[in-house]
Amino acid sequence: MIRSFSGAAALVSSEILDGPVVAVRPQAITARASAVMAQFPGDVLYAVKCNDHPLVLEALFRGGIRHFDTASIQEIRTVRRLLPEAVCHFMHPVKSRAAIAEAYFEHGVRRFVVDHPDELAKIAEVTKTADDLEIYVRLAVSGEGALLALTGKFGCEADEAVPLLHAARRLAARVGLTFHVGSQCLAPEAFACAVRKAARVAVSAGGVDDLDVGGGFPAAYTGNEPAFVAFVAAIRSALAETGLACRLQCEPGRLLVADGASILTNVELRRGRSLYLNDGVYGNLAELKWLGPQFPLRRVGRAVAPATPVQPYDLFGPTCDSIDSMPGPHWLPADMQGGDWIEVGFMGAYSNALRTGFNGFSDHHCVILDDAPWCGTPPNAGLRRAA
Ligand SMILES: Cc1ncc(COP(=O)(O)O)c(C=O)c1O
Repeated sequence: MIRSFSGAAALVSSEILDGPVVAVRPQAITARASAVMAQFPGDVLYAVKCNDHPLVLEALFRGGIRHFDTASIQEIRTVRRLLPEAVCHFMHPVKSRAAIAEAYFEHGVRRFVVDHPDELAKIAEVTKTADDLEIYVRLAVSGEGALLALTGKFGCEADEAVPLLHAARRLAARVGLTFHVGSQCLAPEAFACAVRKAARVAVSAGGVDDLDVGGGFPAAYTGNEPAFVAFVAAIRSALAETGLACRLQCEPGRLLVADGASILTNVELRRGRSLYLNDGVYGNLAELKWLGPQFPLRRVGRAVAPATPVQPYDLFGPTCDSIDSMPGPHWLPADMQGGDWIEVGFMGAYSNALRTGFNGFSDHHCVILDDAPWCGTPPNAGLRRAA
């Protein structure tokens, strides 16, 4: 039974906790899902890899999400078990035969991604040349504009995509194109460029039925990121400009869930401007390293006296590995001390999903918070920044 609290401060003041806390705000996730679905002119698939916690998946479903971008057989099993009415799509370009067979024959998966002719042949062979397949060809696109580029691993070039689409057309009931511009993409134009590239490939291949514009839409960690509507406008105008007419879908992860959870972590020790925490890069806080210090932080549980300055800190996780560091500046009150709790906001994406048990640090709690997502405005807004 997962317990609910009115907010992070109420939790850390009322409980003696050992280990970090994954604090989920299901209402925020449901609201975000409804808003994104209302703004996007096509199907919205949730990228399960981003956070597969049952609270998260169920909150998205309540918000209207029915399609899920699943990239492993385990993700498919999880979604099918929790949400039997949901539709899973196998959006990983390289899959095992066993995974394809189980997905197709046991879970009703029909939509598969490929970026190589051998993968297409594999799917045909395993599904016994089924006549209801939907095959999407993943195009390589530039990662420019994204904080986390996804180039260099998946996706084929236009000259490979065209024959692959022809081959897929001979086999499948529907064919489509897909791409991923990279995660936390801050440039709507990156989507427009990718749509234009997809349109050129589609024309050379005699048309496609579907276009999946992938994920990569940014979460509002700093508040300076372009809004989702700017990305939708860029996609719409590139579609209009190219005349590409087909069914549209997207598969966001972080956009849907980032503001739907916080991580609460305890300071084990303060040494100067370094805070040693009970959570880190091998736990729920990997993104503090890979995306850098842009997440909203605040102290919870011990009140911050008026006019207390904030100062920059470096953060360190609990393991013995020096990779387990999250260099700052992370701005927190100047009087931080051992025992203080920190709320790291906007941690719904790639947090608990990336947690390992490395070095024995796997203990954690999970709670529900009933308050609104915290986005870095008050109470820290009244604090003065020290040099
Ligand atoms: C194929 C695919 N789709 C969607 C996503 C979700 O991306 P994001 O969380 O940046 O929206 C990813 C992330 O790696 C991905 O690989």
